[in-house]
Amino acid sequence: MKTLLTGGAGYIGSHVAVALVAAGHEVVCFDNLSNSRSEVIERLETITGRTIPLVVGDIRDREAVRAAIADHDVQAVIHFAGLKAVGESVSEPIKYYDNNVRGTLAMIEAMIDCDVKTLVFSSSATVYGQPQYLPLDEAHPTSATNPYGRTKLMIEEMLADIAAADPAWRIAVLRYFNPVGAHDSGLIGEDPSGIPNNLMPFISRVAAGRLPELSVFGNDYDTPDGTGVRDYVHVVDLAEGHVAALDAIAAGEAPLGIWNLGTGEGYSVLDMVASFERVNGVNVPYRIAPRRPGDVASCYASPDRARDELGWAAQRGLDAMCGSSWTFERTLAMRNAKQGSDE
Ligand code: NAD
Ligand code: WQD
Repeated sequence: MKTLLTGGAGYIGSHVAVALVAAGHEVVCFDNLSNSRSEVIERLETITGRTIPLVVGDIRDREAVRAAIADHDVQAVIHFAGLKAVGESVSEPIKYYDNNVRGTLAMIEAMIDCDVKTLVFSSSATVYGQPQYLPLDEAHPTSATNPYGRTKLMIEEMLADIAAADPAWRIAVLRYFNPVGAHDSGLIGEDPSGIPNNLMPFISRVAAGRLPELSVFGNDYDTPDGTGVRDYVHVVDLAEGHVAALDAIAAGEAPLGIWNLGTGEGYSVLDMVASFERVNGVNVPYRIAPRRPGDVASCYASPDRARDELGWAAQRGLDAMCGSSWTFERTLAMRNAKQGSDE
């Protein structure tokens, strides 16, 4: 199937592009490059050995999305494009409602213009809010604790209404837990600009000496070692989950389905530090810092529905997550050093 990836040059979208091509699909990336670079597409072409078209455009521009779908004869859309920094969403909520909610609406209108009604949406475990029980299954009540989370929830609700009004839609809502790691080539991965908000990129930069130490946000949670527990899922596993979801909805009868993409395993911050050090033979200096406002003690998935209905389960463990993150960090350092010496 020929699939448009909005946000296809980003961290998760780029890995999904690789997985789709490996599974025999064709991909077109659509991205405004607000949080990514066009060189990612060249690296995707190196990995896949295929030409990957990039349309530089904004999802809020209905006509640009319509043209991309029509010009490339696209049959499905996987919708990654969006802003994702929780803290920024608190200080700049309008930016998030505009980009994520208005953008998604414009994109859906463009899909309707082209009679394309197969859609996979990047949602997040953040829609579960404060966990009432663990593991989190898809029936857990939803709520939002910040504007970013509220945009995901609003979009989920919008999609449910759209699917109820027109059963020709085939929509997969995928709730990601904590995506980490990188493609084994080291060519694509997560490279946030500025100081990373998320744990794994922060650990990588400390190990590389780009940041002095990790602040561990709280060691007095009700968890085995007192630090926060999360369900880290390898981005290549996550990418394969999208292929499974796309295939399932295209072959299925239901207008909308919701699936968690996680491993079902929870690891603490100190587990992550220890694994990263052991797997990569590096030091990650850290100090215990106050809790980060808004953090929950533990969050992990029940991945059973994805296993039963999509035939998908995560295959890669913590060692592969830590190893590939470090490979990516070192590749980045070599590339930056080379660029520096070329200038
Ligand atoms: P990312 O920032 O690396 O990728 C998003 C891409 O979308 C970027 O390339 C950016 O340039 C593009 N983009 C943003 N706004 C756009 C717009 N208006 N028009 C066109 N392109 C636009 O982020 P990611 O980690 O790959 O996340 C992808 C999706 O998954 C996001 O919707 C995010 O909310 C969701 N998600 C991410 C995580 C995570 O931890 N990474 C967890 C749960 C859900
Ligand atoms: C993981 C653990 C921190 C950084 C966020 C979003 C969520 C989703 C995924 C998009 C926690 C601890 C972190 C640091 C630390 N994104 N930590 N020091 O908070 O589970 O989820 O990303 O949808 O919406 O909220 O991920 O990687 O920020 O934190 O101790 O410098 O690491 O307290 O326990 P989180 P994270």
